[in-house]
Amino acid sequence: MSEKSENLVEIRHLKEYFNVNVGFFRSKPLKAVDDVSFSIKKGETLGLVGESGCGKTTVGRTILNLYKPTSGEIIYDGKPIKTKNDIREFRKKATMVFQDPYSSLNPRMTVSDIIAEPLDIHKMSPSKEARRERILELMGYVGLNSEHASRYAHEFSGGQRQRIGIARALAIDPEFIVCDEPVSALDVSIQAQVINMFDELQEKLGLTYLFIAHDLLVVRHISDRIAVMYLGKMVELADAKEIYDHPQHPYSKSLLSAVPVPDPKTARSNKRIVLSGDIPSPLNAPSGCPFRTRCAHATKKCAESMPELKEISSGHFAACHIL
Ligand SMILES: Nc1ncnc2c1ncn2[C@@H]1O[C@H](COP(=O)(O)OP(=O)(O)OP(=O)(O)O)[C@@H](O)[C@H]1O
Ligand code: SF4
Ligand SMILES: [Mg+2]
Repeated sequence: MSEKSENLVEIRHLKEYFNVNVGFFRSKPLKAVDDVSFSIKKGETLGLVGESGCGKTTVGRTILNLYKPTSGEIIYDGKPIKTKNDIREFRKKATMVFQDPYSSLNPRMTVSDIIAEPLDIHKMSPSKEARRERILELMGYVGLNSEHASRYAHEFSGGQRQRIGIARALAIDPEFIVCDEPVSALDVSIQAQVINMFDELQEKLGLTYLFIAHDLLVVRHISDRIAVMYLGKMVELADAKEIYDHPQHPYSKSLLSAVPVPDPKTARSNKRIVLSGDIPSPLNAPSGCPFRTRCAHATKKCAESMPELKEISSGHFAACHIL
């Protein structure tokens, strides 16, 4: 198999700018995603992390064409997604699981109708019986049983609701799923169960994930590789273990230094780096490197030019002038 066809998803120079009002009759582009490129191999999980507002959800939604990209290319299984027909076909193979299982499910619909909605939209059930069987199969995948089918989403706990949301996403028999912080709203005690379920489903169904989280511990275990975003830009990308053990970008180092390490024997030697200041608004992003207003290593050059994302060791990419 050629290198190219191993990639299920390829994103090239993706930009998503929102026009926002900044006063009477004045608008300005908010650069939510600003020239981001990466690829995800078939069967791989790419973790995407960064602070709130850095553009993670926008990346996920733009890949799925829920937002029309401002510019850049989205290539799926070797084919650029351009026309309405491409998007329609792509939507039969790619879907999203949302962060908030409380607001993403319609409270007036039964579990079986919620799960079957994508089947109905794409006319994927030849008969009532086939529909019913498929619903039960999907519920089985996520550990729900047939008694749950006629109940309403609000009758369930957060973890169960997220299982319903996942069953719904699986209904189209997808190849690729954008998982947008699917466990962030759940109790810590059940986060691991749901993460394990994603892992098992991936194995069983041969799924490919873009797994978004702000918590590095969450993505570490499920991800093959991890990408770190800051203010609409990708600043680092490497194998999960590599980025966890040897983060290179000053921002990734600070993110990782904030991750609690439960076992003192494995505690990393680097001290906790506390970031000063808030993340700037993407409407007023700093010139040059977007991280420079909070970076302890910033120099004049950092204000003058944006560092390119470059390969600093095999398969390890970072965007920083001092690397
Ligand atoms: N539809 C929209 N219109 C205008 N601005 C938007 C829109 N959606 C997102 N934004 C802005 O784009 C930036 C990126 O938002 P996004 O939701 O992608 O971030 P995120 O990394 O997913 O954050 P969080 O961790 O809070 O979910 C933010 O500044 C946000 O306010
Ligand atoms: S380019 Fe400069 S400001 Fe940006 S992370 Fe590197 S050292 Fe810090
Ligand atoms: Mg988000």
